[in-house]
Amino acid sequence: MTERLRFEGKVALVTGAASGMGRAAALAFAEEGAAVAVCDIDAAGGRRASDEITAGGGRAVFVPVDVADPGSVAAMVERVTGELGGLHCAFNNAGISEGYGPEEAWDVGVFERTMAVNARGVFLCLKHEIAWMLDHGGGTIVNTASVAGLVAVSSLHYVASKHAVVGMTRSAGTHYAPRGIRVNAVCPGAVDTPMVARSIAAGFRETIEILHPMGRIGRPREVAEAVLWLCSDEASFVTGHALPVDGGFVAR
Ligand SMILES: NC(=O)c1ccc[n+]([C@@H]2O[C@H](COP(=O)([O-])OP(=O)(O)OC[C@H]3O[C@@H](n4cnc5c(N)ncnc54)[C@H](O)[C@@H]3O)[C@@H](O)[C@H]2O)c1
Repeated sequence: MTERLRFEGKVALVTGAASGMGRAAALAFAEEGAAVAVCDIDAAGGRRASDEITAGGGRAVFVPVDVADPGSVAAMVERVTGELGGLHCAFNNAGISEGYGPEEAWDVGVFERTMAVNARGVFLCLKHEIAWMLDHGGGTIVNTASVAGLVAVSSLHYVASKHAVVGMTRSAGTHYAPRGIRVNAVCPGAVDTPMVARSIAAGFRETIEILHPMGRIGRPREVAEAVLWLCSDEASFVTGHALPVDGGFVAR
C-alpha cells in the first residue's frame, strides 16, 4: 500500500521562505505533497527556494511580499489563491531581529521597524488569510513567535513583537475555533539560520548552546516538523497554542 502524503492536494503559503526556517518548512510542505507559495521580500532567495522545489518534482511559485505593507500582503493572498487555486495552510514566519546594541535599546526606529515586520506583518497575514479561509471551508495557520514571545530574552523590541505574535495567536485561535480555522504558534529557541549567524557574535555561540538544556541550538528542519504537525489533521484539536520548539529552554 502506498502511503498518502499529508498535504497532497493542499496549498501552503510560507512567508520568509527564502531562508532559514521558512525555507525548511516550504521544502517540507512540498515533500508532503503541498503546492507551495514561497513568499519573501528577498526575490533572489525566494526564487532559489521555489526552483529547488520544482527541480525536485514539486509545485511552487515565488510570490514577492513585504509583510509589513498592507497592500503587498493583500496582493500576496490574492495571487496565491488565484495561481495555486486555494489556501489550506499558512505559515506566517517572516521576521527580523534587531536592537541588541546598548545605543539601540530605546531607539524608536528599531522599535517601529521590528513591530512593523514581526507584529504588523503577522496581523496583516492573519487578516487576509482568515478572510479567504472563512469563505472557503477553513484552514490552518501557524505563526512564528519565539521563546522571546514567552519570556524576556533578546532585545526589548524583539520581545515586545514576539509577545504580540503569541497574543494574536491566542486571540485568533480562540475566536475562529468554531469556524474551522486553527491558529497556533511555534516558539523556537535559538536555531541555526542566517538570522542567528548574524546576531550571535563570534565566540558567543557556545554560551547560547549551554542555555538550551539539550546543549545545542536547533536545526531549521526541527521547527519545520512542528509546523507541519500543527498544520496537519493530526493536530485537529489544537488551537491558540504557543508551542516551544527549544530543546527545553523555557522549561528550565
Ligand atoms: N533563528 C532563530 O534562532 C529564531 C528563534 C526564534 C524565532 N525566530 C523567528 O523565526 C522566523 C524566521 O527566522 P530565521 O531564523 O529563519 O531567519 P532568516 O533571516 O534566515 O529568514 C527570515 C526571512 O524573512 C524574510 N523577511 C524579512 N523581512 C521581511 C518582510 N518585511 N517581508 C517578507 N519577508 C521578510 C527574509 O528575507 C528572510 O528570508 C523569524 O520570525 C524569527 O524572528 C528565529
